Amino acid sequence: MKQFVLALAILPLVPLFANQAEANPKTRYDAASQTCRVLDYGPLEWESRSYGEGGKLFKNICKGCHSRDNDKGAPFLWTESKTSEGWDRIFATRAPKCAQNGAWDGMTPEQLRRLNDYLYRWAADSQDLNNNC
Ligand code: HEC
Repeated sequence: MKQFVLALAILPLVPLFANQAEANPKTRYDAASQTCRVLDYGPLEWESRSYGEGGKLFKNICKGCHSRDNDKGAPFLWTESKTSEGWDRIFATRAPKCAQNGAWDGMTPEQLRRLNDYLYRWAADSQDLNNNC
């Protein structure tokens, strides 16, 4: 009986958590290609997840250096190291040394956009930020 009452008390909270999980940005405006990238349905919804192309590129390429305690002098990075806007700025300017010395060069422009989509979608403030196009 006690458990049943507890379950009833928790039930109204379920939609609250479900909503929170859905509160990631729905779109990303890509300034370089002047396109609106739809991240909440369709192919990019998948590709901008950790097991989609964006997440895999981050893991296989960026984390090859930016892992915890690496010996390459690269600061540890994960999606929440920057805000969504911060990641957009990094990809737009290519300011990091590693971007300028060729470490990003193996990727096609679309792969770079998908990597940017992934980081933007799961960034530090991505819960609060919604559509930007
Ligand atoms: C070959 C190793 C290597 C790879 C691969 C690499 N980086 Fe870096 N990255 C570095 C190093 C080393 C630094 C520090 C350079 C400096 O500023 O002295 C750095 C710096 C940075 C910085 C600036 C530091 C900060 O905390 O703001 C960012 C952002 C960054 N990298 C992002 C990326 C992303 C995104 C990728 C994947 C596309 C990537 N890096 C791939 C080695 C790498």
